[in-house]
Amino acid sequence: MSAQATTPTGRIAVVTGGASGIGLATVRRLQEDGHAVVIADRSEAAHSVAQELSTNEVPVHSEIADLASPDDIDRLTSTITTTYGGLDILVNNAGIHPKREDGSHFPIKEISLDQWNHVMTVNLTATFLLSKWAMGVMKERGWGRIVNVSSRAGRMYMPISGAHYVASKAAVIGFTRTLAGECGPYGVTANTVAPGRIKTPLSDVSGLGSSQNLHEVFSQSVPLRRVGTADELAAAVSFLASEDSSFITGAVLDVNGGIFG
Ligand SMILES: NC(=O)c1ccc[n+]([C@@H]2O[C@H](COP(=O)([O-])OP(=O)(O)OC[C@H]3O[C@@H](n4cnc5c(N)ncnc54)[C@H](O)[C@@H]3O)[C@@H](O)[C@H]2O)c1
Repeated sequence: MSAQATTPTGRIAVVTGGASGIGLATVRRLQEDGHAVVIADRSEAAHSVAQELSTNEVPVHSEIADLASPDDIDRLTSTITTTYGGLDILVNNAGIHPKREDGSHFPIKEISLDQWNHVMTVNLTATFLLSKWAMGVMKERGWGRIVNVSSRAGRMYMPISGAHYVASKAAVIGFTRTLAGECGPYGVTANTVAPGRIKTPLSDVSGLGSSQNLHEVFSQSVPLRRVGTADELAAAVSFLASEDSSFITGAVLDVNGGIFG
């Protein structure tokens, strides 16, 4: 019997970057929603996270894959097909934002071609490859949800973000809109979430000295006067992965405390 058939919803979700931060909160939330979950992460921590969360009723599995490697992505998609029987929900969450040693962003003149390509490969190309595979599986099933994690940085000017990160996150939005157009006729939706500042290991790398400072300074310009939590982001992903979002596709859901400037 596949993992899929044993869960309360009968659905299986794959969350990339599920070993930390927003991805980890999303794994927990989708499990609470009753979906079996596969964490796909380059970090071995994925195994201990899965072991800790997994229950007999709603299993959490882990697969180690470096999404910068097309070979790893091939291996991952084959394993998900053969071991877990495919997928119903894909959350492309894994992302990187290289920073200088002091935590500040790389200005364009300091971004090497290698670093540019690496950021694009992890943040954008992996999303393309996994979505391309997932939409094929989901089309056959006549149902599916793809949720891609972009960033507020992909929506507007962010002086603390590197151009490669910003370009990759803006591209995720454009890609997802086209993906939605192509998979909509088959009952598959594709949407983007655009987080503002969310407290995670990634955002704790600060450009202003201590991370607490940056979170505090930033909070003053947010209408809700604080940074977000990974659980708040996971709640948005959960909605876009649910039946309740059935007429929403190609959308960008801003989860940013109201900061649009
Ligand atoms: N935290 C924020 O404030 C914020 C804001 C906007 C967007 N985002 C986006 O949210 C997503 C999650 O960010 P986070 O803050 O939770 O980061 P995080 O660093 O806490 O977690 C990222 C996870 O992705 C995994 N990962 C990174 N590169 C990988 C690779 N090549 N292959 C496989 N796994 C890889 C890491 O091992 C880690 O588990 C990212 O796409 C990020 O750009 C975060």
